[in-house]
Amino acid sequence: MDYNGLQVAVLDPSLGDAIGACGGKPVVSGPDDAEGVDAFLDRLAGEDIGVLLLTEPDQIRALFGRAAATGRVESLLDAVRQMAVGSAAPACTDLWRSHHLSVDYEPDGTGGEALVSGMARLAGYLVNKKRTAVDGGVDTSSWQRIDMRWHFESDPYGTRGESAFLQACRREKTDYTPVWLLRQAGRYQRAYRELKSDLDFLDMCKTPELTAEITLMAVERLGVDAAILFADILPLLQPMGFHLEYVTGQGPVIHNPIRTGRAVDQLEEAEPESQHFVYEAIRTVLPALPPHIPLIGFSGAPFTLAAYAIEGQGSRDFRHVKTFMHSDPAAWHAFMARLARAVTGYLNEQIEAGVHAVQLFDSWVGCLSPDDYRTFVLPHTGYIFAHLRPGVPSIHFGVGTGSLLGLMREAGGEVIGLDWRVDLAEAWQNLEHDVAVQGNLDPMILFSSPEVIRKHAAAVLHKAAGRPGHIFNLGHGILPGTPEDHVIALVDAVHELGSVR
Ligand code: CP3
Repeated sequence: MDYNGLQVAVLDPSLGDAIGACGGKPVVSGPDDAEGVDAFLDRLAGEDIGVLLLTEPDQIRALFGRAAATGRVESLLDAVRQMAVGSAAPACTDLWRSHHLSVDYEPDGTGGEALVSGMARLAGYLVNKKRTAVDGGVDTSSWQRIDMRWHFESDPYGTRGESAFLQACRREKTDYTPVWLLRQAGRYQRAYRELKSDLDFLDMCKTPELTAEITLMAVERLGVDAAILFADILPLLQPMGFHLEYVTGQGPVIHNPIRTGRAVDQLEEAEPESQHFVYEAIRTVLPALPPHIPLIGFSGAPFTLAAYAIEGQGSRDFRHVKTFMHSDPAAWHAFMARLARAVTGYLNEQIEAGVHAVQLFDSWVGCLSPDDYRTFVLPHTGYIFAHLRPGVPSIHFGVGTGSLLGLMREAGGEVIGLDWRVDLAEAWQNLEHDVAVQGNLDPMILFSSPEVIRKHAAAVLHKAAGRPGHIFNLGHGILPGTPEDHVIALVDAVHELGSVR
């Protein structure tokens, strides 16, 4: 993944070597003297330059200053609108925007080198995308990622059906091990925090252009093989009558948790239409996703949703849930059946809107014994998998589920998600290799170093032993504070080490 011979324009001569090392042809001029900047402006307007990387606000000021002095502002704007523009820091990004130009990439790390190497991975894609947009008459001045529609020559679903991710779901042989990451879009990314700005998380989830943009951003920046729709599992509880709030520093809170069977009877049915913003986000992001990248839809599973609805928040011991479950089994089953209907309708609408796979998150089910899982959960998750629209693979994921994996497989799913506590080789063996698996690097490893990350990625791949049907992922979501460079290093390492040689 490099510039592949593209011309990369910079005003900082010291970056020339780094660009060359990443396969680009540097186009350099001195920033300080007017003549140098004038020559640079000539080259921007006259040559086939794909990428423009400026590292200091002064460089942007100098560029526009000389363009104004020599009557060339319009030709500068025209030229830059077609290029992939990289900015080293928020101050540069703000300046570009003040000239009504969009910035296509700003790294999480600082400094020119991070900009050069980060942009190298995206340049071919971004230049292609931007030029196609300009050719199609799209104004890229202040565009968002989702403004660009890919023009498919063939059936997009056909193209995506041959993607490594969907092939692995079907346990077909792939050229390399596909990878995507739980919580691949989120607070660990500066770009996410900027997009979110001071918006409330729930409002954000209900703004399709924004969730579509975030979905796409994660795919572009990380280079993963699948997109997961940016949404959350808990808004589905709202139409039932639960009061949901995301409290900063605490996470999600249900202000009116239920603790009695009578309360279950008073709940509303969650109609799939209540989540219309999710289907709209799917329809918005699909045409903008690279043609080979499938989109994963998802829902919380009944137990995990019930856990929030009964505990009112995350829990260590799940005392209220288990007490409810054991003391009023009839009410429990009524509640779970209600949730299972809601989840089924919700996932089927997502499939109808175009997702290529669905994942059921049963994040908290690992707190149950196998017997309790079989009695209190399996019938309901089983109902969901049995009633999904056919043709779209499903992934069944939980955390701390080492002793439940066989039962989860019985409930359903073409792919079983593994957390990092289990040995992948052993777990897959126990599943008799007749289901695909997804996992299972410890997300905490991402805090170490690229070398350590690579070593652990290799270990996970070794456990999978090149068997068809392994999707590389973390054992649980990326944690806030994880360096984005490390996440990218993981994706690159998996692609390199998981290739068939
Ligand atoms: O994976 C992705 O990139 C898609 C987005 C996604 C989110 N939540 C975004 C989110 C997905 C797939 C989820 C699923 C989810 N949500 C689960 C199941 C997966 C898991 O992690 O076990 C659960 C249990 C939830 C409930 C939830 N929502 C919690 C516990 C939290 C707070 C934790 C946190 O990271 O702050 C949320 C909020 C939430 N969901 C955030 C994001 C990016 C953080 C919101 C913010 O402050 O910006």
